[in-house]
Amino acid sequence: MDSIMAMRLKRRAVLGGMLATAGLLATGSSFSAPATVLPFSFPEIPRGVDGNHHVPEGYVAEVLLKWGDHLFDIRAPEFDPLNQSEASQLQRFGYNNDYIGFLQLDSERGLLCVNHEYPSTRLMFPGISDGFPQSLKLEHVLIEMAALGGSVIELRRQHSQWKPVIGSAFNRRISAHKTPMRLTGPAAGHDRMKTSADMEGTLVAGTFNNCAGGMTPWGTWLMAEENFNLHFLGDLPKTHPEAANHERYGLSTTFFAWGHFVDRFNVEKEPNEPNRHGWIVEVDPRAPASMPRKRTALGRFKHEGAETVLAPDGRVVIYMGDDQRFDYVYKFVTRDAYNRDTPNPDLLDNGTLFVARFGADGYVDWLPLRFGEAPLVPANGFESQADVLIETRRAADLLEATPMDRPEDVQPHQDSGRVWVMLTNNHLRKAQQVNVANPRANNTAGHIIEIIEPDRDFAATRSRWEILVQCGNPADRQAQSTWNQATSANGWFTSPDNGAIDPMGRLWVATDDGQAAGAADGLWALETSGQGRGTGKAFFRAPMGAEVCGPQFSPDGKTLFVSVQHPGDGKQATFENPTTRWPDFDSQSPPSPSVVAIRQLNGKPVGV
Ligand code: FEO
Ligand code: CA
Ligand code: CA
Repeated sequence: MDSIMAMRLKRRAVLGGMLATAGLLATGSSFSAPATVLPFSFPEIPRGVDGNHHVPEGYVAEVLLKWGDHLFDIRAPEFDPLNQSEASQLQRFGYNNDYIGFLQLDSERGLLCVNHEYPSTRLMFPGISDGFPQSLKLEHVLIEMAALGGSVIELRRQHSQWKPVIGSAFNRRISAHKTPMRLTGPAAGHDRMKTSADMEGTLVAGTFNNCAGGMTPWGTWLMAEENFNLHFLGDLPKTHPEAANHERYGLSTTFFAWGHFVDRFNVEKEPNEPNRHGWIVEVDPRAPASMPRKRTALGRFKHEGAETVLAPDGRVVIYMGDDQRFDYVYKFVTRDAYNRDTPNPDLLDNGTLFVARFGADGYVDWLPLRFGEAPLVPANGFESQADVLIETRRAADLLEATPMDRPEDVQPHQDSGRVWVMLTNNHLRKAQQVNVANPRANNTAGHIIEIIEPDRDFAATRSRWEILVQCGNPADRQAQSTWNQATSANGWFTSPDNGAIDPMGRLWVATDDGQAAGAADGLWALETSGQGRGTGKAFFRAPMGAEVCGPQFSPDGKTLFVSVQHPGDGKQATFENPTTRWPDFDSQSPPSPSVVAIRQLNGKPVGV
């Protein structure tokens, strides 16, 4: 304990400014203090909510891509929300853009990789206010499937601005039902993965509910399959071998209508189909005809994201959250090192999945999910590693991982060895359920945990951790927030969701609060080092009803891409009566989820 306390004190001293020189690290401890990075510099925007988006003075935000934009033919007719079809949607930018990846091809060209998470049925289609989802028809469902998955779009730089190249040979649409993908890794081909359409258990028709994600060092795009459960209907008898598994993942709901029309989304007809979703999908955006891979070694849960770093020995480490109240934080460590000269395209098929147990001693232990090691043995119903991965959640339950307040993005930072875990909120946590890493009952505001990997060894099985900030209103003592006192009345936020790190090593946090705290969601800068550690600063505000996801910087830091997801949403919001018609404000059209590109008018990097 003494050495831990000494380490803490040392670190506090460093953060207090005793070692203010940029890049200077504490010595004598493998858990070194973060290098002090440049503080954020921009005029904060005010808290509030209205129908439009807001950026600081001196910045401009332009809609880069929006729902319905044609990706393949510049002469295609403009998108008409009143005359949608599956075939047309398969050619066009999808709905509810979420994760944004940027792969630079050369100084003037890049590929934007965008996830399309879920359909907002009432906002997408006219006349769906009553009897939803029973009032839907097959064509609605097929359009929804066509609007999910992802988009790859080539961008070119013109006069310092990135613009989409419609018709580029790189452009691609991935959908929920028309993009075959290969299951790979330990669970591929297992009996529990077989369906009447795929007797081999290795080929799936698509991907959906792709939330956040990541880009790998070899330039592939990881799409995280999150709330897949919402698209399945039907009930299995309690005695069915998959019944308890499906229940642990929240099947079935009556949220969406797919199961009414398409048999594979009805578990009574295809009880194994849900086992083929909830994975991390790897896509090579440079090869538009390539078949995406569902990498089962990374586990099956409601994957929020999949951000990648390299351990000092070259092994690849991927951090992942399972976005459910009381679920867990994971990391995956590849068996083999990444070799830049001869990259192994199937590196992600072999490795170890670990789940986090946070201790009161300030350490987090990473527990391996390995078949054959107690308790992941036949006596507990696991006959193979495939079983462990298909039922990742139950395996982690048995390992007594720490139940968290909805783990969203888990954002590692290669240079500092820091990892920031966004815990969005959990109003269901009772006083008797608090734990060291989730200390507030009825946690409506969320918090951010910092994990410190020893000597930047992201593959370590024992790491340090502390709470970076407990979110909430600092003026409300009941909220028990822990911001740096330098945080302004605009700088605090609630419900952290996606994190991004800019090229200067600074953390940015997007929120998904649903206006519960009375203000629009947005993007905040959050100081993690120096005397300002724990200071939030408001940078971008979304239009009414929207959450902000996918923050991503161009490699030069001069462009910040953000996803504005479900603008115009609200309890009673419909196609006819959205809460805003952002971004076009056309009285005949519903709002459009869009990717926005933000830059500074003086050409400097964002936040400088
Ligand atoms: Fe799709 Fe957890 O946000
Ligand atoms: Ca999210
Ligand atoms: Ca992220």
